[in-house]
Amino acid sequence: MTFHLLVLPGDGIGPEVTAQARRVLDWFADHRGLELEIEEGLIGGASHDRHGSFLTEDIKSRARAADAVLIGAEGGPKWAQLRSGSGPEARSGLIRLRRELEVYANLRPIRAFDALAGDSPLKAEVIHGADFVILRELTGGVYFGEPRGIEELPDGTRRAVDTQVYTTPEIARVARAAFELARTRAGRLHSVEKANVMQTGVLWRQEVARLHQAEFSDVTLENLLADNCAMQLIRDPRQFDVIVTDNLFGDLLSDGAAMIAGSLGMLPSASLGAPDTHGRRKAIYEPVHGSAPDIAGRNAANPLGAILSVAMMLRHSLALEAEAGRLEGAVEAALARGLRTADIARPGTATITTQAMGDGVLLELEAAR
Ligand code: IPM
Ligand code: MG
Repeated sequence: MTFHLLVLPGDGIGPEVTAQARRVLDWFADHRGLELEIEEGLIGGASHDRHGSFLTEDIKSRARAADAVLIGAEGGPKWAQLRSGSGPEARSGLIRLRRELEVYANLRPIRAFDALAGDSPLKAEVIHGADFVILRELTGGVYFGEPRGIEELPDGTRRAVDTQVYTTPEIARVARAAFELARTRAGRLHSVEKANVMQTGVLWRQEVARLHQAEFSDVTLENLLADNCAMQLIRDPRQFDVIVTDNLFGDLLSDGAAMIAGSLGMLPSASLGAPDTHGRRKAIYEPVHGSAPDIAGRNAANPLGAILSVAMMLRHSLALEAEAGRLEGAVEAALARGLRTADIARPGTATITTQAMGDGVLLELEAAR
């Protein structure tokens, strides 16, 4: 069965890293019988320059029709001003597409790669063997809550409002995804909120506990306050297996946790919706890093976050676990051979280009064939 993929390279380093991800996809098509049909489109600043919108109706409907979407990155200083309003057009295309497809379960796996253990700013003995997933709720919370906006007050001062809001179904569906994921791993789940100060945290904790009792008592559940979680991630990252948390805390904690992997450039992600009657789920795959305008167009970005996102696609959308493992093995082998883009290189050591890192991964895929 042909797999229909919509690729949205986006802005900044997005097109460069996505090009390497596409070479990897082509390799799986040529050598592993993957039947792929790929379409490309615009998102973010690239889309705004052409169509006056960060996310067009056309892309929305093509994304809905696709089996999965692969995104590079979005945004940059050129379009920052357009974002200052509060209407829907001021919002990033990426955020709107997540909501449009209702991909509420955002998986951000964090691993301390053996080959990079000495390169993390954290001590090798602290991070060695760390391997966990942050499951970030992606379509609710303060990113979408109403009311939001900036208003002028009668005395001439201004007032800004964002709203953190969660319903029990929103909490339950992401918690269910987390419990199910923990069952396929070491069976441990940390649920993260701030129930000590936030009502959404109180409801979050209650709903997770209810589901735990009713259906997942075989999974070990611990509640952790978000500030404590930030500290524990640095103090002892090996204690974690699956972490489930809201949209904003998940955004913050995953950037922090990236340093366990050595660089934000290493992190892939999968954003999944609810299974339909055939078990298929809407899916967006994207590296966690942003558009990095400072190094865009210089063939210097790390494509491994994008390439590892392809591995997540093989695993979660195509159920090709062995092929996903093959690709992750090739990335590890390339790292073990000493290939380093600038973000993961020690000061004073040799670095390679985005394209050369893609070459390195393809070489390892060939070698293991
Ligand atoms: C992420 C990013 C986005 C977010 C930005 C680019 C809107 O930081 O995917 O983590 O905040 O979700
Ligand atoms: Mg982020």
